[in-house]
Amino acid sequence: MSTTEESPTAAQAGASATRAFRTSRQHRTAGEVTPERVSTVVTALLDGVHRTIRTHQVTYPEYVAAKRWLIEVGESGEWPLLLDVFVEHEVEEVSAQHQQGSKGSILGPYHLPGAVRLPSVCTLPMRADEPGTPLVLAGQVRDTTGKALPGAELDIWHADDAGYYSGFAPHVPDGNLRGVVVADDDGRFEISTIQPAPYQIPTDGPTGTLIERAGWHPWRPAHLHLIVRSPGYRPITTQLYFTGGDWLDSDVAKATKPELVLDPRPQPDGRRRAEYDFVLEPA
Ligand code: DHB
Ligand code: FE
Repeated sequence: MSTTEESPTAAQAGASATRAFRTSRQHRTAGEVTPERVSTVVTALLDGVHRTIRTHQVTYPEYVAAKRWLIEVGESGEWPLLLDVFVEHEVEEVSAQHQQGSKGSILGPYHLPGAVRLPSVCTLPMRADEPGTPLVLAGQVRDTTGKALPGAELDIWHADDAGYYSGFAPHVPDGNLRGVVVADDDGRFEISTIQPAPYQIPTDGPTGTLIERAGWHPWRPAHLHLIVRSPGYRPITTQLYFTGGDWLDSDVAKATKPELVLDPRPQPDGRRRAEYDFVLEPA
C-alpha cells in the first residue's frame, strides 16, 4: 500500500473513532456492570500489572514512559483503535463460547450507523473511478434449523483499495463502501463492491509508536465487516477475509478465524465472486 499526502493522520482517525464510539448503539452496556464485577475484574487486572512489574523488574524510566504513552493514547483519541486491536478479540471469543450460528469476529472502531439501505442485489456506494478488483459477495441468511430469513439485513462496511475507511479518512467520500443490504424473500443477497486492501494501523499515533518500538507489524489482512440481523435472532458481528491474503496468519488484531476466509473465484466478466451463507440463532 502506498501512502499519499491525503492520508489521514492517526489523530484524525482516532478522533473520528472516538466520536463514532460515543454515539454508537452497538455498545449498549449501561447498567450491566455491578460493583462486585468491577472489583473482581479490576483487582485481577491490577494483579496482572503488578506481577508483570515484578517478573520483568520494570524500572522507573519504563514506568514514566508508559505513563506518558497512556496520556498520549487518550489525547489522540486512540483508545478505540488500541482496545479494538489488542483487547476486543478476547472479549468476542468469550462472549461467543456458547453461541450457535455463524462465527463472529470483532466489531472494530469503524462501524457507522445509518448507512444507505440497498436491495438484495446491489452495488455498494463507490466513487466513479473507485480503484480495486470488482468483487461479488453472494449468499443466503438462514436460521439454525435451515429456514431462510426473508428481509434479513446485512450491514456491510470495508476499507478501499488503499486500506482507508469512509468517515475516518477525509479524502474518502462519506458513505463510500458502506450499506445496509436487505436480503430478498428467500434470505438471499448479491453485493457488488471492490476488493479491500489490507489495513494498516495508523503509524503516526501512539498505537503506531508502540508497534514500532516493540518491533511488531501494524497490519490487518484485507477484510469485509458485516453485522447480519433479523428480528428475533441474535445479530452476528463478523468479518470475512480472503484466502491467500497477506497478514492472514499474523493479524495484529488477532481477529481471523478459519471459518471466515472467502475463496473468491474469477468470473468471465473479470469480477471475483465469493459465496458465503450466514446462520443466525434465535435471540
Ligand atoms: C482496527 C481497524 C480495523 O479496520 C479493524 O477491523 C479492527 C481494528 C483498529 O485500527 O483498531
Ligand atoms: Fe476493519
